[in-house]
Amino acid sequence: MTSKPAPRDYSFIAPLYDHIFQRFLSEGHHEIGNLLRNVRNKRTAKVLEVGVGSGLSLNYLPPSIDYKGIDINEKMLIRARDKAKMLGRRKIVLELMNAQKLAMKDNSYDLVLAASVITAVDSPLQTMKEMIRVTKKGGHIAVIANLRENDSVRSQFVKILDPITRKYMGFRTDLDLESLKRLRNVKLLQQKKVNHILGFPLSSFLLFEKR
Ligand SMILES: C[S@@+](CC[C@H](N)C(=O)[O-])C[C@H]1O[C@@H](n2cnc3c(N)ncnc32)[C@H](O)[C@@H]1O
Repeated sequence: MTSKPAPRDYSFIAPLYDHIFQRFLSEGHHEIGNLLRNVRNKRTAKVLEVGVGSGLSLNYLPPSIDYKGIDINEKMLIRARDKAKMLGRRKIVLELMNAQKLAMKDNSYDLVLAASVITAVDSPLQTMKEMIRVTKKGGHIAVIANLRENDSVRSQFVKILDPITRKYMGFRTDLDLESLKRLRNVKLLQQKKVNHILGFPLSSFLLFEKR
């Protein structure tokens, strides 16, 4: 993975984000919905979503869950706040924050989510470390990310596209699964291809457990 950061300003796309991306990302959001429905001890469970964006996952949130969403972009958060208001939930808190330096205490969340985020931040691994830090032992971290392809034809194609996706879409395509599996205090439990377009999976859904 190169250290060159991906751009992260979603301000220009915020008003159009749902119209453009909701359809392509819905398979991954469904996976998150399944996790939220099955979260242990729903009444006391604490969930953190990193890079909540316009709040597409809020539609899948069971009413009783104590939920906090953070994002670095105020324009995206405004849209998430509108959705939260429409849902009329008291237990949704949305805050401006950098995923690479979370303000939360260690071991404080049962489930930490990041959908299409870790490849949009400057440092995916630092973001993952922060997500792991704030997850309780035995808790879960769910990530949806477009990972580097192993298939040689696809990987060449994706490599060619990388400067374009970085510049115009704000995400990198050079993150590999092995670098995530090597992170400390975490074990990969589940891996699934999601967000298919014409049979081609755009992203992977990854579920980790904190040890
Ligand atoms: C592709 S969008 C995904 C939004 C949402 N999770 C979804 O599934 O639709 C990426 C989001 O990550 C946010 N982001 C980028 N860098 C960030 C950072 N360092 N800290 C927090 N959020 C960040 C962007 O502002 C944007 O809202």
